[in-house]
Amino acid sequence: MAEKQEATARAYTSPQVNPYGRVDEEVASIAEKEERRKKRMKCFAYLIAFIVFQTGVFLIFGLTIMKVRTPRFRVMSASFDTFDVSTLDTNPSFNIRMIAELGVRNRNFGQYKYQNSTIEFFYQGTKVGEAFVPRARAKARGTRRFNVTVDLSSAAVPTDVLANEFRTHAVIPLRSEARLRGKVEIMKIMKKNRSSNMNCSMEINISSRQLGNISCR
Ligand SMILES: *[C@@H]1O[C@H](CO)[C@@H](O)[C@H](O)[C@H]1NC(C)=O
Ligand SMILES: *[C@@H]1O[C@H](CO)[C@@H](O)[C@H](O)[C@H]1NC(C)=O
Ligand SMILES: *[C@@H]1O[C@H](CO)[C@@H](O)[C@H](O)[C@H]1NC(C)=O
Ligand SMILES: *[C@@H]1O[C@H](CO)[C@@H](O)[C@H](O)[C@H]1NC(C)=O
Ligand SMILES: *[C@@H]1O[C@H](CO)[C@@H](O)[C@H](O)[C@H]1NC(C)=O
Ligand SMILES: *[C@@H]1O[C@H](CO)[C@@H](O)[C@H](O)[C@H]1NC(C)=O
Repeated sequence: MAEKQEATARAYTSPQVNPYGRVDEEVASIAEKEERRKKRMKCFAYLIAFIVFQTGVFLIFGLTIMKVRTPRFRVMSASFDTFDVSTLDTNPSFNIRMIAELGVRNRNFGQYKYQNSTIEFFYQGTKVGEAFVPRARAKARGTRRFNVTVDLSSAAVPTDVLANEFRTHAVIPLRSEARLRGKVEIMKIMKKNRSSNMNCSMEINISSRQLGNISCR
């Protein structure tokens, strides 16, 4: 487009016959120089714009796709098999087989491969059950759900603690802890070790035989 403009400028000036032809030529060459300078400036501006754009693209890429987020591991829900609970003051106890559905939420743009682990359940600070968590992988931007079976037994819980708890609540409060060790792999090129810690609290409602009030941090 600039060339066209130049051509029209020349076509306009050249047929003009006057005694100051040389001056006209000089004027034309100055205009030409000015035109070229403008062109260079335009080129430069485009280059700057391109660099800014590229930097923006890389920045967005780095801040979203390549960013490694720690996966979340939590208890999603549960159902029960054996459910023997005695709330009698004289002989308080529980013996429960729980099928817990766990979830590993991976928000990364790449899979999360984690190693074998263990999930432990606590009742007022006393361990009452545990389950094996087999190694697996959680897909990119997905939640891997799986079930574990855990036998919860009050055998190790002091009787007075149990009796006290049952007297005040018709629920069995539990806390679960686990640590998943694994790595996030983004586009096969970036591998970062990431551990996911579970720390959930929940309650088993004795009368309805349901797990509720699950809260994880
Ligand atoms: C993980 O558990 C499986 C059984 O599910 C076992 O075969 C494997 O050896 C374990 N891997 C490690 C690293 O402990
Ligand atoms: C876990 O078990 C429950 C039944 O107890 C079932 O409804 C659910 O689909 C299972 N989840 C998975 C991921 O297998
Ligand atoms: C990542 O974890 C693996 C074991 O899962 C270990 O061998 C490796 O050294 C760790 N890498 C870094 C950078 O911590
Ligand atoms: C788990 O969370 C509870 C509060 O809900 C907190 O008191 C406890 O220290 C946490 N445990 C770990 C291992 O982070
Ligand atoms: C247990 O569940 C029943 C039925 O859903 C409900 O009426 C009761 O309030 C629950 N108890 C507690 C302590 O949440
Ligand atoms: C959840 O906890 C609240 C109080 O913290 C209680 O009122 C409610 O009944 C609980 N729900 C279940 C299902 O245990």
